[in-house]
Amino acid sequence: MKIGIIGVGNIGGTLASKLVSTGHEVRVANSKGADDVRPFAEEVGATAADAHGAVFGADLVILSIPLPAIEKLPKNLFEGVPVHVPVVDTSNYYPGMRDPQIAELDAGEVESIWVSRQLGRPVIKAFNNILAHSLAELGQPEGVVGRLAVAVAGDDADAVRLVRGIVNEVGFDPVDAGTLAESWRQQPQTPSYCCDYDAPTMRKALAAAVKGEALRLRDQLPEAIAALGANPSHDDIVAMNRSRSSRGQRRTV
Ligand SMILES: NC(=O)c1ccc[n+]([C@@H]2O[C@H](COP(=O)([O-])OP(=O)(O)OC[C@H]3O[C@@H](n4cnc5c(N)ncnc54)[C@H](OP(=O)(O)O)[C@@H]3O)[C@@H](O)[C@H]2O)c1
Repeated sequence: MKIGIIGVGNIGGTLASKLVSTGHEVRVANSKGADDVRPFAEEVGATAADAHGAVFGADLVILSIPLPAIEKLPKNLFEGVPVHVPVVDTSNYYPGMRDPQIAELDAGEVESIWVSRQLGRPVIKAFNNILAHSLAELGQPEGVVGRLAVAVAGDDADAVRLVRGIVNEVGFDPVDAGTLAESWRQQPQTPSYCCDYDAPTMRKALAAAVKGEALRLRDQLPEAIAALGANPSHDDIVAMNRSRSSRGQRRTV
């Protein structure tokens, strides 16, 4: 497939490298133009592009940039990209810590619905509820017991199927998380969020989410992160996510 990836940081960069390895033709872009992204592209075997060049002619687009940066993408970015081409949104909203406040999200709008409104086209939410370290290091072949899972939510069945295939290819069990409107269940501070769960546990965690709880837990996040100390290990972060996100949710995980 021809895959365009915008954003080559922890998540987009890892996906670019893995998807080149699995035989895809990958074009990558950042905010600074093709020359700036070229060293990374050459390192992983992708092609450097600007944002328009990354999406034009792609069979799949992956947006892996900070959520507020989505507003800064060119307004005509998807002109000429057929509507059946899935656009994956990996973003998460961290107001007050990393991101500026966005009123609609603070009022409870589902994050990927907000993203799709900014883009003017539907998105598939995926790769947002797995930590960068897990994505890069903990993938396993299909069928391995305990293989970690990644939630996939979206409204178009064909697009979801294609993205589920990509999740599988890069080493994880795709778990169907419902429509985009339901994708609040995989947002930060929910039971399924970045907990290194296998597919059966991820399904239970998605079902255990209680609407509104994540917003309440979010306010306590800076304190919880501070309590981990200066250089928390991956296991410490996963343990924190598991213990925090089970609070106040339905006790089925
Ligand atoms: N890190 C994680 O563990 C993790 C896990 C799941 C989901 N996520 C989410 O996935 C997204 C990416 O996370 P990350 O950790 O990979 O971020 P990151 O390491 O900071 O990388 C962000 C990338 O986006 C590019 N970028 C920023 N603004 C842009 C713009 N306006 N146009 C085009 N490219 C732009 C950056 O390049 P330049 O600034 O050089 O342009 C960079 O390549 C975020 O929304 C994050 O919340 C992160």
